[in-house]
Amino acid sequence: MPLQIKEQASLQPFNSMAVSAKAMFLVTVSSQEELTQALDYAQSRQLSCLVLGGGSNTIFENDYDGLVILNRLIGIDLISQDSNSVTLKVAAGENWHEFVRHSIEQSWFGLENLALIPGLVGAAPMQNIGAYGVEVKDAIVSVSFIDIASREIKSLTNAECAFAYRESIFKRKLAGKVIITSVTFQLSKQAKVNISYPVLANCFEHQPTPAQVFDAVSKIRSAKLPLPKEVPNTGSFFKNPVIDQRQHDALKTQYPDLVSYPAKQGFKLAAGWMIEKADWKHKNLNGVSVYKLQALVIVNPEKKTGTDVVSFAKAIQQDIEIKFGVLLEIEPRIY
Ligand code: EPU
Repeated sequence: MPLQIKEQASLQPFNSMAVSAKAMFLVTVSSQEELTQALDYAQSRQLSCLVLGGGSNTIFENDYDGLVILNRLIGIDLISQDSNSVTLKVAAGENWHEFVRHSIEQSWFGLENLALIPGLVGAAPMQNIGAYGVEVKDAIVSVSFIDIASREIKSLTNAECAFAYRESIFKRKLAGKVIITSVTFQLSKQAKVNISYPVLANCFEHQPTPAQVFDAVSKIRSAKLPLPKEVPNTGSFFKNPVIDQRQHDALKTQYPDLVSYPAKQGFKLAAGWMIEKADWKHKNLNGVSVYKLQALVIVNPEKKTGTDVVSFAKAIQQDIEIKFGVLLEIEPRIY
């Protein structure tokens, strides 16, 4: 079937911040063949390409002057299993939360702490999604992708993906060069849970099952993070910054209630705490504000433009730099 390519298509339904922008061309692909056809279409017209999964981490300040490809590749294939674990190859267009739910229902464990994270499977390795003491890299075996220039299907092992806190090779060296088509996970058949995160541990009196952890994480997230469909947002807007011991000690003297955690190269600061401390929970610029229950989340209830959202974020960045001497790094991709 020929591809259905739309012209001057609205991107508002496809980005969870709900900013209004248009794509010069827009196409939905549901197989690797269609993905290749879409790339051929773009190449023949010398168009740049942008792939959107759930649009949960992308903001448009401008119209997109090229081809936006909505990745809807689906399928969960069981590759192998033994008495301890199962290996699954999951297509990039599968919904993340539904995949996590499915895995728990099958008694395949390891992803329960990552319940209710918005977006699709293909985006998970991109920024190494993480929550409540678990990062997706802990369960990833390899990531397959199409190389846009050569059209070859390639894959990288977990070690080659250069995963770190909210980081991977796909955000850096391979950004814009590849399109993730599937992710291979190894999940455990043993019900070992991670409740190291105090907010989670406090939910239980006895050792919980993975399904109970899944329910508890879903409950905690629902209580303090807005659903993008109800209140447009892209989750945490900034990364939690890591600073060295010297800077940490100076800040702790200035702000004795500073929220920080020991990290690999010093201390990780809770950016949400700093934003709240700097009084941003009470500010609203052009209809854009921070979420009252979690200041790390910028919300756009009036569906203002990408420029309004980015201006608000930059104002926060500047203020935090002045008050704490720390530059907050913006998480979502901005186009
Ligand atoms: N805090 C405040 N005020 C706020 C928000 C947070 O004082 O408005 C304080 C909290 O009281 C707590 C600390 O900051 O002491 C940390 O808050 P929280 O546990 O909510 O976690 P976070 O560091 O703000 C990170 C992730 C979240 C993830 C949670 C739980 C980043 C950038 N964000 O947030 O990820 O769910 O930990 O593991 O690392 C996302 O990426 O969209 C996301 C929600």
